[in-house]
Amino acid sequence: MYPVLKKEPLSKDYFILSVRAEHLQRAQAGQFALLQHTELSELIPLSILEVNGEEVSFLVKVVGRSTLELKEEAQQISYIAGPLGKPFPVKNYGKVACFGIGWGIAPLYNVAKFLRAEGNSLELYFLSEDGFLPLRERLDALFDRVEVLREPKRVDADLIISAGGNRLSRDVLKLNPETPHIAMVNTHMLDAVGLCLVCRVLVDGSIKLACSDGPWFDAQKVDWENLIIREDLFVEQERLALEEYQKLLRRKNLRKTSSEV
Ligand SMILES: Cc1cc2nc3c(=O)[nH]c(=O)nc-3n(C[C@H](O)[C@H](O)[C@H](O)COP(=O)(O)OP(=O)(O)OC[C@H]3O[C@@H](n4cnc5c(N)ncnc54)[C@H](O)[C@@H]3O)c2cc1C
Ligand code: FES
Repeated sequence: MYPVLKKEPLSKDYFILSVRAEHLQRAQAGQFALLQHTELSELIPLSILEVNGEEVSFLVKVVGRSTLELKEEAQQISYIAGPLGKPFPVKNYGKVACFGIGWGIAPLYNVAKFLRAEGNSLELYFLSEDGFLPLRERLDALFDRVEVLREPKRVDADLIISAGGNRLSRDVLKLNPETPHIAMVNTHMLDAVGLCLVCRVLVDGSIKLACSDGPWFDAQKVDWENLIIREDLFVEQERLALEEYQKLLRRKNLRKTSSEV
């Protein structure tokens, strides 16, 4: 069991989850972990935001059953595997433009800290409908420039990095086809050790696995349309799982309130 040390709400949808997980101390740039709240919960991949000794933090965006479960109930986490994935290739690229959406800000922040130490200049473009940017203060302190946008745009950079959504990476690539671009692919994952093949990605015509060959790939070689079609395969099951869990939560909360009266 891994104790939850802190849950810090940032908005209705986002919170920082800090856990004690000694084995994640060796995490390198842009790696992730697989977390399972209880033995009956699903395993979900979360990018490592920061490591401070034994304390490891994640930025969580609540989108469905498992992320809501972490927000509402997690006092300890039954299983945490990691660090997983190939680290981001850190070096001095020059001017790096990062594009993020949603939880993608977590891997971007993590990678940007390593890139800063190599002397890169850093720009951040965050896509948001309502203008909210999680971790705003930390990002302002780390990046040379931070902009919140409604649509991706063309930029002048030596490298583009994108994370948080396959559609975002595809659209940034369309606008900047000639700029070197490393993107984090977004796939469902089950085991994250290369056995289930759920996380397959077509890269340059060959099948790669996001969990063990990725999650960072050369964006110009990824078949984004194939990934985007597969993203929506389980929407109905995910909607039902969320509804069931919301009912369960309401029952638990009612029981709690009536036992307090
Ligand atoms: C390498 C990697 C790193 C990630 N890092 C973070 C992170 O740092 N913070 C964070 O909050 N989330 C992160 N995610 C996404 C997170 O794993 C999913 O949001 C989570 O599994 C959703 O679980 P759920 O049960 O709450 O929602 P679900 O009910 O499973 O899904 C809710 C909705 O999100 C969509 N969805 C869920 N998972 C994915 C996925 N992986 N790809 C595409 N669509 C999906 C579903 O289609 C559905 O519409 C990461 C994903 C990957 C692959
Ligand atoms: S998550 Fe199963 S092979 Fe990648």
